[in-house]
Amino acid sequence: MDSSHNKTQILSSLEEHRNRLSKKSLIELFNENSNRGSDFSIAFGDLWIDISKQLIDSTTIGLLADLADESKINQFFSDMMAGSPVNWTEQKPALHTALRAPRDSKILVEGKNIIPDINGTLEKMEEFSDSIRNGKLLGATGAPVTSVVALGIGGSNLGSLMAYKALSNFTHREIDIRFCSSIDPVDLNQTLNGLNPETTIFVITSKSFNTKETLVLMENAKKWLEDSIGIEGFSKHLVGITGSREKATNLGIEETMIFDLPDWVGGRFSLSSAAGLVLMISIGPDEFFHLLSGMEEIDNKTLSEHFESNGTLLLSLIDIWNRSFLNYPTMAVVPYSSQMSYFPAYLQQLMMESLGKNIRRDRHGFDNSVGSVIWGATGTEGQHAFFQFLHQGTDVIPCEMLGFSNSYNEALQEQQNSLFANLLAQTEALAFGSYPEKEDLTPEKKLEGNRPSTVILAPKLTPFILGQLIALYEHRTVASGVVWGVNPFDQWGVESGKSIAVDIELEMNKGSSSEAMTKRNSSSEKLLEKFKILRNI
Ligand code: F6P
Repeated sequence: MDSSHNKTQILSSLEEHRNRLSKKSLIELFNENSNRGSDFSIAFGDLWIDISKQLIDSTTIGLLADLADESKINQFFSDMMAGSPVNWTEQKPALHTALRAPRDSKILVEGKNIIPDINGTLEKMEEFSDSIRNGKLLGATGAPVTSVVALGIGGSNLGSLMAYKALSNFTHREIDIRFCSSIDPVDLNQTLNGLNPETTIFVITSKSFNTKETLVLMENAKKWLEDSIGIEGFSKHLVGITGSREKATNLGIEETMIFDLPDWVGGRFSLSSAAGLVLMISIGPDEFFHLLSGMEEIDNKTLSEHFESNGTLLLSLIDIWNRSFLNYPTMAVVPYSSQMSYFPAYLQQLMMESLGKNIRRDRHGFDNSVGSVIWGATGTEGQHAFFQFLHQGTDVIPCEMLGFSNSYNEALQEQQNSLFANLLAQTEALAFGSYPEKEDLTPEKKLEGNRPSTVILAPKLTPFILGQLIALYEHRTVASGVVWGVNPFDQWGVESGKSIAVDIELEMNKGSSSEAMTKRNSSSEKLLEKFKILRNI
């Protein structure tokens, strides 16, 4: 934790409170308060957030509120949304909220109001999206573009991919959208299978335009285009979304086909920027703007609601309670919606790349753990894969269940009801176990319960609702970073792997093990040697 004297007192009060509360079960907590289900739930935007099956009581909430106050979270969010350089290791603002702020806002970065540029980018995105959706965008041979292949990785892929899958009920039926992120040659080949170069464009998203995987994919895409429509025409089929315009033009993307990513938006926070272009092409500008409105709704509530009715802060501080006080190292995210199947992977980057840090702002290390391993899968599938571990494993794993009450098609509502019945059954069994106990229950069949979970219930999976969920997790992640005292906006830890890969790749085509590999370490040396033998080099 980022500690001041008063904060130290609050932390020790939380530890004492944990020792007392750990003697109580969820069954006892529910028996003490017949209204617990309501008392520990809030409406936040259009979301119903039920934390009643977390291992907390009103004292916990009070102490966590003190911790939030002492951490000056509200001040941090005000500063962040006003453009302060809250990303302190890179001396940059983190202004993803500006991307969905009212069009007449005024937010200054280095003395310049950034809103006109944001509006300009949105207008360019809208014009481009409509030209494809209306069949007006023609390729090099004069054929209308009907296929879009999105190339990118990490924050330049996961947000769009997640939202595209989540909003599949809103996608344009005649436009074929595909995503490719891996340097594995099979991935692009499978992605391109059946596509016609004359009617296909590639949207290459890379803030740095320096990410090896994405650049390799782009070169392969250019070759695929050239083989069919020749070298003159392929620039009509390449769109760049980047913060590095010069690198993109040097690699053959035309100026007019570039959409700018501002330096003050991090990749994992970038869906509401031009990085969302492919999504806008698919669901259309109007629905994309509904997504932005949902985000803005939660931006505002995160700033304005007091702790006990602030879903962002409550969920963030409970994450800290579960991680730093109850010492649960992971959290399972279980959306009861097949359309939300990519949501766990999206949250993995958002939460783990933001909070996987071990140095605080005051340069001290930590005396407790920070950040959780985020993993998960869709609801009923998870019940047939890892829920056994959740119910009877030796480790307690807090769960986050997401449910939606309304199906798209009234005729399918019965199945939607079954989905929610499963969600309720699982969160209940995790909390209360085999209670009330049956006599003949052998130890192997007994569920101890007392396994915490949160339920987030939304009316329907629409762009507006998805926008609310995305902003909720963005801010929840940032709030946890503030309390823990880490920078949620940088990712220095992933840089070294990239440069090591460059060095090793230089050795790949050398016949035998080189001196350079010997100097590295005996494992890499031996593995590369084996790789080459297996390649019959
Ligand atoms: O994983 C490291 C990272 O820098 C992410 O933060 C980012 O979203 C991803 O790589 C892709 O980076 P770029 O958009 O620059 O290609």
